Amino acid sequence: MPTLIASRPLALLLLLLQPLQFKILRVGLDKSEEEIEQFEDYLEELHSSGPAKPLTKEAFQRCTIIDPERPLIDPDYCTDEMKMKNVHDKFRCVREHFFLQIAYEDLQKICKNLFVPCKNGVKKCHRSRQLVEGVYCNLTRGARMSDCEYESSYRKGHVLITCRWQDDIQEIIPAYVNDIMVLHTDVKGNSLLHNEAQWPF
Ligand SMILES: *[C@@H]1O[C@H](CO)[C@@H](O)[C@H](O)[C@H]1NC(C)=O
Repeated sequence: MPTLIASRPLALLLLLLQPLQFKILRVGLDKSEEEIEQFEDYLEELHSSGPAKPLTKEAFQRCTIIDPERPLIDPDYCTDEMKMKNVHDKFRCVREHFFLQIAYEDLQKICKNLFVPCKNGVKKCHRSRQLVEGVYCNLTRGARMSDCEYESSYRKGHVLITCRWQDDIQEIIPAYVNDIMVLHTDVKGNSLLHNEAQWPF
């Protein structure tokens, strides 16, 4: 029922936040002072730091492109794959990450599409014309590798990426996956992009 969920963002958010607050409380109860401090520093960093430094072509491929053997609908997908593929920011857990089921060459071609707004509204993303399947990972617990635990959600939609120039190979390459925008249909059957309201097209 995607339309129902989309129309009740606040209720959904409250539902999501309740178990999270409980988890943070528990972290506070069974960890040492030092660990609590680290966790607080980490939370602060989450809210203040910009995007992590760009990955090389090889690193991006390793961290982002899905190997076919594992089913995408698996609640442990992210927690396992983030470890397997060694996705972290100087050994700190990254807050969110996308894995994409797409050939790297096809992802790279998206860099040639026109600029469109990213999910924060800044117009520096490129959007795929085709639908791409993937998994969205959202950090639920942990601060440092390998304690990072993630919620995994299967997504199929138009992928939004940023691209950059890599000087040594003289190529424009995907730099960062910003979102997989899931298509919903409204009451009249027209397809809508989720969070379209925020989009200054
Ligand atoms: C990711 O998790 C945070 C809480 O950790 C939640 O507030 C947020 O809505 C989640 N994002 C998505 C897109 O599910």
